[in-house]
Amino acid sequence: MRHEQGGQRHAPDIAPPLRAHNDAGGNGPFPPNIPRVTKFTVNNQPVEYRMDPATPLLWALRDASNLTGTKYGCGTGHCGACIVDVDRTARKACQVPIGSIEGSFVTTIEGLSHDRSHPIQAAFLAENVSQCGFCIPGMIMAASILLQNNPRPTEEQIRRQITNICRCGIYPRLVEAIQRAGRIQRGDETVSTGPRPGIDPRDAARIVPALTPGQ
Ligand code: FES
Ligand code: FES
Repeated sequence: MRHEQGGQRHAPDIAPPLRAHNDAGGNGPFPPNIPRVTKFTVNNQPVEYRMDPATPLLWALRDASNLTGTKYGCGTGHCGACIVDVDRTARKACQVPIGSIEGSFVTTIEGLSHDRSHPIQAAFLAENVSQCGFCIPGMIMAASILLQNNPRPTEEQIRRQITNICRCGIYPRLVEAIQRAGRIQRGDETVSTGPRPGIDPRDAARIVPALTPGQ
C-alpha cells in the first residue's frame, strides 16, 4: 500500500525502482523536497511512502498513515511522546528520517494489540496509569521494548531506561505498571482487559479509522 502526505491512500501499484543516485547526477544524498518511495513495514503491513526521505517517521505515520496514536510532543527528541518500535529498538519518531529505515519493521501503539490485551496495555489500565493520556503511547512503546529485553526490570532499571517526560507526573504508577506487565507477560498474573463503559473500541474506530478492530 502506498501512503502519501495528506492522508490519501491509493490502490496498490508498482513503484519505480529506488535509485542509488539523485537526479542531479551525483551520488550524494537525495536533494531535499523531492518525493521518493521509501518502503518499510508498519504494524505488519508493507507500506510505500512517496515522500521526501528526510521526512520524520512521526509525520509519515501520523499524516500519511493516519496512525495518530504516536504523539508529537517536543519535536526535538527530548519527551519520548513519539517513541515507536523500529526493529525492536525504541526510536523517537520525530528524529528518524524515513529514508534511514528502508526495509525496517515498525510497530506503533496501534500495532501492539487491537483489544488492549497486550500485557503492558492491560497493566496500564489495571494500575490506572493514565491521567491526560498524551504521553501514554510513547510510554507504552518504550516499556514494551524494555520488557522484550528485560522481563524482570527493577525499579532502578525502569527509572533509568524509561526517560519519557510526563507533565502529569504518573511516574510512581508507571513503575508499578511496568513491573506488573512483566508478571502478566510471564504468566504469573492475569488481569481483565475488557473495555470500560463508553470507550468501546468500535466507538474509537468511528473517530480514528486506524483503530478499526482487526484491521
Ligand atoms: S516529539 Fe519526539 S521526543 Fe518529543
Ligand atoms: S498522563 Fe498527561 S502527560 Fe503523561
